[in-house]
Amino acid sequence: MEFDETKLRDHFAEPPSDISLADIDLARIPRHISCIMDGNGRWATSRGLARTEGHKAGIVSLREIITTAVRLGVDVLSAYAFSTENWNRPQYEVDTLMYLFAKTFIDELPLLHRENARVEFLGDISALPTRTRDVFARGLEECADHTGMVLALAVNYGARAEIARAARLLAQEVAAGSLAPEDIDERAFAGKLYTADLPDPELVVRTSGEMRVSNYLLWQVAYSEFYVTDTYWPDFDRWGLLRAIRAFQNRDRRFGGLSQSAKA
Ligand code: FPP
Repeated sequence: MEFDETKLRDHFAEPPSDISLADIDLARIPRHISCIMDGNGRWATSRGLARTEGHKAGIVSLREIITTAVRLGVDVLSAYAFSTENWNRPQYEVDTLMYLFAKTFIDELPLLHRENARVEFLGDISALPTRTRDVFARGLEECADHTGMVLALAVNYGARAEIARAARLLAQEVAAGSLAPEDIDERAFAGKLYTADLPDPELVVRTSGEMRVSNYLLWQVAYSEFYVTDTYWPDFDRWGLLRAIRAFQNRDRRFGGLSQSAKA
């Protein structure tokens, strides 16, 4: 995707000592970057605050990462906001998250308009409270014509449930006689996932140091590069994203084959 050189330089003015825009090859920015936004609760607890304050601070970080990704010309930014397992958290925290999703979405609509970003939801949003669902539907509609970056928010998302759902959808087509079992291949299967129209993530960033995939995009991350930082999500900023991209660009991606140097 195109990027505005002036806005990009301004966005990355005043770099810290260890990273700057010059460390990145702008021609090799990952098309799809995915974030597992972890550590909101610990960030808050370590400051003597309620966990929900961590989620509020996490939204500020998400806003910065959205703008940064747009500046860098990323095609798709996805983020894990709420998993199918997160319903097991205390009711107050679940309610606060649902309220925050709705409020944030309304508050951030001008940002999405300004940045020409489109939104997609990954997951079963029909199970969300009516108000959250309504606000999401409004956002989808209002941003439908945007042609810039896709912001894919995983809400009430679980990868195993997504895979089971894809199998069910294919099975229904077979039962109806519109699909032959021998036509079920990787492409057909991927076409039934929530991410059907998106490229697979090239880079997955997980904050707060956990080395887990936590039921996130299990099919889609087959060849993704993983970057884990100890930074809690509310402290993750534009420079953190740049560090992740630098690490990505230093990796030797082989996709099961040989590296260029080994082939020579
Ligand atoms: C993980 O931290 C974070 C979450 C479960 C919620 C993330 C959601 C946002 C940042 C808001 C996104 C906004 C929209 C509009 C989708 P944690 O609570 O698991 O942290 P811990 O591991 O330290 O407990």
